[in-house]
Amino acid sequence: MSRIAFDIQPINRFAGTSAAIRRPKEIAFFSYDENHQFRLDDSSLRYYYPPRLGADLSAGFETFRQLDDAADDHLDSLLRTLIAHEQKTGQRCEADFVTWRGMMTKIMAVPFDNFNDFEMNATCFQGTIFIEENHEAKLASREQQMKQQSRPGAPSQEMMSYWGYKFETLCLIPDTWDAVSRDYIENRENEVVSNYAQYCSVVRTGICNASLIIGGEVDAVWDCKPDDKDQPINWVELKTAQDFGATGNLLTFERKLLKFWIQSFLLGVPKIIVGFRSPDGILQRVEELETQKIPGNVKRSGKASWDGNLCINFTASFLAFLKETITSDGVWRIRRRRNSSLVEVLKMEETGYGDILSTEFVEWRQQM
Ligand code: A3P
Ligand code: MG
Ligand code: MG
Repeated sequence: MSRIAFDIQPINRFAGTSAAIRRPKEIAFFSYDENHQFRLDDSSLRYYYPPRLGADLSAGFETFRQLDDAADDHLDSLLRTLIAHEQKTGQRCEADFVTWRGMMTKIMAVPFDNFNDFEMNATCFQGTIFIEENHEAKLASREQQMKQQSRPGAPSQEMMSYWGYKFETLCLIPDTWDAVSRDYIENRENEVVSNYAQYCSVVRTGICNASLIIGGEVDAVWDCKPDDKDQPINWVELKTAQDFGATGNLLTFERKLLKFWIQSFLLGVPKIIVGFRSPDGILQRVEELETQKIPGNVKRSGKASWDGNLCINFTASFLAFLKETITSDGVWRIRRRRNSSLVEVLKMEETGYGDILSTEFVEWRQQM
């Protein structure tokens, strides 16, 4: 088994002005409906309408429809969407990388998140590197996280996770505000919270010399999607955070902002709406953050716990390293352990594409 490692240290070699980036542009999209069935449409697109302050984010926890994600979906939905796009345009979606946004978020956060450990599988097919999450490692890590004992009397991990979905339900409407009844808006607090439905945007973007096609969920659109496909979309990312006013813990919030920023940066989401909550889950205030201003504000904060340009430059170097390393079929593992300065790439299977690529996709491409 061959093993090659990329050393994150010395981290300062990635400092300085950022490598060129290409504004993410949506090329395709898909939805999961209320049964989590794949649909090649925008039926699960949602719109933002401000929530009522004072709402209890714990309300309805007993009726939460939580998706069981024990099955490994690989890149299937993203590849189905690419096939449909290629059938429509008659052109292959060329890119150096195809992956889920979540994988890129983990990679970009490496320089400033020592606790972020991950395992991914990758393969190279027709000159493109496809990267998926290693599902077993993800489930194991989730179990660890859920086992972490909360302080006595403090809310459980499950409850804190529910707060995020509840906040979404309180902020979303199924159509533009003028097309939705007042009744609907006022009754959002009684809606059953569910995370089955999703709208996923598939974007083309670039970091330095690497071109990427990334798929990821977007929570909502601010107004509506523009008719002109060259115009940026006013996406909104919804997030909850404990109100640091109460704890004075600005540093914790600043560290959270690293993930908020990366996640939104990658899909070109310009606005993040943070619902600040009390320690016991009461929605206290809502703040709108402009994604592109976050790194500058953090830099000037005095704490400066992370540096956005450095994340971009690290990612540019790391992607160049992957392009030099993963040059053939077979299955490669990309692995980073907690507190390690190394990201390792190991060849696990000599040939084939593992389960990373669906048969449908490979067959489509081979006859294209
Ligand atoms: P918050 O981010 O407000 O906590 P996303 O923010 O990516 O749209 O995800 C929506 C919600 O899903 C999150 O809201 C959180 O409640 C839950 N969630 C996402 N990733 C999670 C994880 N790794 N563990 C637990 N809950 C998670
Ligand atoms: Mg989301
Ligand atoms: Mg969100």
